Amino acid sequence: MPKDVIIACDFASEAQTFAFLEKLGSERPFLKIGMELFYAAGPNIVRKLKDKGYKIFLDLKLHDIPNTVEKAMRVIADLGADMINVHAAGTVAMMEAAMRGVSAKGNARPLVISVTQLTSTDEARMQNELLIGKSLPETVLHYAQNAQKAGLDGVVCSPLEAESIHNALGSGFLTVTPGIRFADGEKGDQVRVATPAKARKLGSDYIVVGRPITEAADPAEAYARAVADFLGR
Ligand code: C5P
Repeated sequence: MPKDVIIACDFASEAQTFAFLEKLGSERPFLKIGMELFYAAGPNIVRKLKDKGYKIFLDLKLHDIPNTVEKAMRVIADLGADMINVHAAGTVAMMEAAMRGVSAKGNARPLVISVTQLTSTDEARMQNELLIGKSLPETVLHYAQNAQKAGLDGVVCSPLEAESIHNALGSGFLTVTPGIRFADGEKGDQVRVATPAKARKLGSDYIVVGRPITEAADPAEAYARAVADFLGR
């Protein structure tokens, strides 16, 4: 079972990203590239980082009609990303199309995971605005089941949900968990947080850590600490 720390590179430009990566010295960690950096720097940044030996989680949260998602996923897989995500709200048919897209070439395909309900959506908004009448945990679990049915590898979720998702869907279904903070660190705008060690105990397969590493006085030390804490070394 893979266990790794993914650094969220929430930067506005390629220059800022490379300036940050220099601080990590010879380390070649798994990096998450989200919409901000991808739209600012363009797809080529994925190729450049892959050429330098980084692993890439492309966090673009695709959600469109199945045909469009299938074709977009084919292009994204060609960039060499190691992990990609889509919205489970796009339906099982859309997620199946996503899997066809990444598998089109028949080579080793990237991991594909899904977003269930965004953590910014609370139960009241989900029920009153989106007219989803079930509870939030029920909805998250059902969307995760849909993702598994469509052949996806896992979901993005809170570390606090990792255990129930593994219990329901098996330990092989990946949980990729943001909302990570060091015990002595700032929470910022995150509410339901866990330390890397707690995330490990709860069964997270990958933790996504942004500001506790990117804004640390010594990012290399913070990354090493996250790895040691998460992997229990
Ligand atoms: O800086 P921080 O550690 O809070 O960064 C967490 C990263 O994970 C950010 O890129 C954020 O957008 C992302 N994320 C999250 N919660 C989710 C999904 C993604 O914090 N439910």
